Amino acid sequence: MRNKGYIKTDAVANAVLKVPREDFVPPDVRDLSYSETPLPIPGANATISCIHTYCIYYEAMELGPGDSILEVGLGSGYGAALARELVGPSGRVVSIELDPETYRFGDGNLKRAGYDDVITVLGDGSEGHEELAPYDKISITAACPEEPTAVMEQLRRPGTIVYPVGGDGYQYLMKMDVDEDGGRRSETLTTVVYVPLRGRYGKK
Ligand SMILES: C[S@@+](CC[C@H](N)C(=O)[O-])C[C@H]1O[C@@H](n2cnc3c(N)ncnc32)[C@H](O)[C@@H]1O
Repeated sequence: MRNKGYIKTDAVANAVLKVPREDFVPPDVRDLSYSETPLPIPGANATISCIHTYCIYYEAMELGPGDSILEVGLGSGYGAALARELVGPSGRVVSIELDPETYRFGDGNLKRAGYDDVITVLGDGSEGHEELAPYDKISITAACPEEPTAVMEQLRRPGTIVYPVGGDGYQYLMKMDVDEDGGRRSETLTTVVYVPLRGRYGKK
């Protein structure tokens, strides 16, 4: 993944090497744990994403020691575990999941793998998670129908959010930096295919 440019830093390489992806996939697809393909997980319309997409997110947002991050879409818990490795003991990872069955799967995986200090929340992440805001970084791992303004309000200034936006089919993966004064700078990172964001500000 380094030769394709998805991994740019040793920190992300080490996180990918450390987190056992096989512990975050259902037993029947365990053989495919290291295939570059999304895999189905319990719940309605939930997947564990391809490994390289987590690298794109975390490299782009420069997730590092001491950061607090909100992940919208806990899914398998794999992305939260990688984030935990990157933010270190002084950082904080909060991950929110809408689907109760998926939540139980992701939360259980994290606890079994020893990531019991990730804060997991069952709820509608299209509204973010106000109780623990602001966050230095936010990653939305489901396709937003439009710019996720409600979640963006929960970013610290300066802060960075990465999110896919668009309809069914494919979406644009966007990175938005917000500066101290609230000024915004937006960049398209690539195109991706994510399951739809549901909930209040999700797909209608
Ligand atoms: C592609 S999966 C996320 C993969 C996950 N980050 C991982 O590491 O496995 C998208 C997830 O977003 C969840 N989701 C969709 N809408 C949501 C919402 N409004 N709030 C929280 N989670 C949501 C889905 O249930 C699904 O589990």
